[in-house]
Amino acid sequence: MMRFNFKVICGLASACIVISSAARSQQATAPKPFDLIEWNDGKFIYGADYYPEAWPESQWEKDAAMMREAGINVVRMGEFAWVKMEPQEGHFDFAWLDRAIELLSAHGIRTVLGTPTASPPAWLYAKYPGIAAMDATGVRYRFGSRRNYCIHSPDFFSATTRIVTAMAEHFKSNAAVIGWQIDNELGNPKCYDPASQAAFQAWCQRKYRSLDALNSAWGTVFWGHTFESWAEIPLPWNTPFATSNPSLALDFDRFWSDSTHAYLDLQAALLRRIAPGQAITHNEMGTFPDVDYSDLNRSIDFVAWDNYPTFQKDYAQYAGVGLAHDLMRGSKSNQNFMIMEQQAGDGGWSVFFGRQAPASLYRVWAYQSVAHGADGICYFRWRTSRFGTEQYWEGILDQDSYRNSRYAMVSQVGKELQQLTPLLRESTVASPAALLVSPDSRWAQQIQPGVEDFDYDRQLHDYYDALRRAGVSVDVVFPTSSLSAYRLVIAPVLLVSDRALVDKLHAFVGSGGTLVLTFRSGVKDEHNVVTDQTLPGAFADLAGVAIHEFDPQVNEEQEVVGPGESRFPARTWSDILSPRTARVLATFGKGYYADKPAITENQWRKGWVYYVGTESKSPLFYDRLISLAANRSRIALNAHIPAGVELAVRQKGGTKIVFVLNYTGTDQTAPLDEAYQNALTGRPEPMDVPVPAYDVKVLTGQ
Ligand code: GLA
Ligand code: GLA
Repeated sequence: MMRFNFKVICGLASACIVISSAARSQQATAPKPFDLIEWNDGKFIYGADYYPEAWPESQWEKDAAMMREAGINVVRMGEFAWVKMEPQEGHFDFAWLDRAIELLSAHGIRTVLGTPTASPPAWLYAKYPGIAAMDATGVRYRFGSRRNYCIHSPDFFSATTRIVTAMAEHFKSNAAVIGWQIDNELGNPKCYDPASQAAFQAWCQRKYRSLDALNSAWGTVFWGHTFESWAEIPLPWNTPFATSNPSLALDFDRFWSDSTHAYLDLQAALLRRIAPGQAITHNEMGTFPDVDYSDLNRSIDFVAWDNYPTFQKDYAQYAGVGLAHDLMRGSKSNQNFMIMEQQAGDGGWSVFFGRQAPASLYRVWAYQSVAHGADGICYFRWRTSRFGTEQYWEGILDQDSYRNSRYAMVSQVGKELQQLTPLLRESTVASPAALLVSPDSRWAQQIQPGVEDFDYDRQLHDYYDALRRAGVSVDVVFPTSSLSAYRLVIAPVLLVSDRALVDKLHAFVGSGGTLVLTFRSGVKDEHNVVTDQTLPGAFADLAGVAIHEFDPQVNEEQEVVGPGESRFPARTWSDILSPRTARVLATFGKGYYADKPAITENQWRKGWVYYVGTESKSPLFYDRLISLAANRSRIALNAHIPAGVELAVRQKGGTKIVFVLNYTGTDQTAPLDEAYQNALTGRPEPMDVPVPAYDVKVLTGQ
């Protein structure tokens, strides 16, 4: 099999990015994007998550034949089979897995192996009880369920090193094994045991160097919490009145993300050293907040994530999954990615999610993944389990292996993607607009929401969904990302920011960018300590406003008048704005601050800054705001896409690949900017393109 070139290369000047941030500040050239289709020998990765250990070996051959018939060319296996591979400490048995890999390979199906550390054997807990994570009340978990280990346990590091080394040594030369998934959905539960506390103290010491610096940064003068030795530093564990120092709590969140990264690195380093010809990924969780994926993903070759659209209760609200795709893509410089677990049926552990979707809707969701940049899809799972917690989590097949409607759907998509591969290959999502996700602000907002109903991710969706309703592609960027490719950046709730981010946004606006800021921006420094400047603090000059009064809206009785003449319900928060250089676009509608400014627009150097001092339940409110900002940044909107229909575009040079996805049970028509050709039938489609219920059109044109 081919080997990978992991060297950092920078070809075209436009492919180079400049990463500038406080912690990781250095110029970097973008590595050559990992080409997933090349990795799979020119085939679109089309797969299933397979658990051969749970089925009689006599069934494997029939499974492989049915997979091949459905167009499946990759399986992921092994990620929960530690005890099958190491039944006793230091004694390994890979023969069963060798047989499965070989049998599948004979059917043209290659393997991604999961390292099995998410589910340690019972014998390991019996011998080393300290490997179990401890909850915030000081109680250790024991054996049972999964993901119950502590990422700071030295015994668990040894056990991890042993199994990963043995696996890598055994499979490194197996040409059918093309890559590795490390662990399974890293990130929780958090561990509050003495090993974790010692690791946190060491992390603090590396960061602050002196206790004086730490005490000053955290403001430990409050309630007399000054530390006289590193060993006194606690974790944000259970306390009376459930309160921790917010600065400590934010550093703990950063530490936890760093530790998760370090645990992944422990495995990645072993795999890279022993099996350098096989690629490395990890199955991530979209908008999961506890890990800063933009940091973690520096250690893997490509992003993979687990996509379960039915967590979204209203299936027509496609932007819930869309944002997760775009965040995952953005977490590794917008490179194309893979879905390691694409939902294949209803889900549920003790109860089914319960709102069935027809198999045709799972096809639309598979295409949504492709439309947002997936170059590979593995369905979870090949067949529903007969045993254990996930008896109700449907695979492609049910336990009886009947060729059901989901199998027919998978077969259809398999054929279609094979046909579309030459068109899709090397196409990417290119967006004029970016949504800035700040892990620090998100964590700080969770630590102290300010208002009970204050939801960071909802703020992201307010704006993201409006852009997507208008057919605008959106990249998710992080504080370390370059902004130079964008005309519009929306940065909701920058509660916490450091100098590097403040400077970056000034540079963006200064050179002509349009920036949208919202309430609670510029409130705190990077230590989660409130600024002594007038709000919005470091963003006051950009926004051209001062805030001397705000109103946390506990009862949500406020309203906002504008943009335009309309009145919209307002919720969550009111920043009562005093314009300095800004122009007023909307005012509050009620109460003691009626008629006071709520939304402003300010020209700063060559660019424009919107400051939105409140939130609304009304999607129309955001449609209006987006249309103002899009106008300023010369971004074209499509105002006539029907609700429940998504328009998404991949591009390759001058060629556009347009996906029109209908998540509703009724036939729809979407008006496009021009007439395209149907990429599957080769026939022309009208500009008002019809899309039947639960169906998708893949179109192409210049
Ligand atoms: C009590 C305490 C104060 C302060 C206030 C507000 O009155 O005595 O120290 O904490 O509550 O929380
Ligand atoms: C996650 C896990 C899978 C499975 C599914 C369904 O995505 O990675 O192992 O448990 O959820 O519950």
